[in-house]
Amino acid sequence: VEAALADGPLAGKRVLVTSGPTHEPIDPVRYIANRSSGAQGTAIARALSALGAEVVFVTGPADVAPPEGVEVVRVETAQEMLEAVQSALPVEAAVFAAAVADWRVASASTSKMKKTKGGLPVLEFTENPDILATISQMDKGRPALVVGFAAETDDVIDNATAKRTRKGCDWIVANDVSHETGIMGGKDNDITLISQEGAEDWPRMSKEDVARRLAERIAQALT
Ligand code: CTP
Ligand code: CA
Repeated sequence: VEAALADGPLAGKRVLVTSGPTHEPIDPVRYIANRSSGAQGTAIARALSALGAEVVFVTGPADVAPPEGVEVVRVETAQEMLEAVQSALPVEAAVFAAAVADWRVASASTSKMKKTKGGLPVLEFTENPDILATISQMDKGRPALVVGFAAETDDVIDNATAKRTRKGCDWIVANDVSHETGIMGGKDNDITLISQEGAEDWPRMSKEDVARRLAERIAQALT
């Protein structure tokens, strides 16, 4: 357990972290989810707090418990996450580690869907708001440092580099979430930090170590 440093490099700085999956309802008892455990986002929030930051932690329904000593805002859907993020502003840095559902069911049913209605259900989807892009492209009150993640299974660096430019964030933490890497839901991470200066490969290390190293980089960037 790390104690927050009252005189740490991030003391007096307010930062935001999104984490975990989102759940998108199909009907009152069913939802669409993904394999994010929330481990990496939680470790980042903890590491930022340990450097003295005032952390707002916006989390979907994650497997791991949120860190102690941070302001926790629990949400379910992508739309709720966007609203919670906007309410938390202004912040000096924002890290978008959540695995936000790209799509939601266009009109979730308010009553439980029944087999007896005949035929198979057909779900129609609509796109969720892109929280990272929305915040990265704010005209007024944009955080000084916006960090996104890129979960990729193919052409990781090329896709993540393009994602950074397209969304307008400052840094992208790229990781290969192919099933065999064991990263999504696992203990370790193997990331490449992409900024305007280029791509920096980090060795495979625990998600806690990735978090500590990233928090230190954020502290350097903000001072
Ligand atoms: N993200 C977000 N809101 C969304 C989708 C993604 O804020 N609706 C954020 C994630 O938190 C992450 C980054 O955008 O920081 C990239 O997420 P990713 O799923 O890799 O990228 P997408 O733009 O959704 O593209 P795709 O899934 O098609 O690769
Ligand atoms: Ca996505």
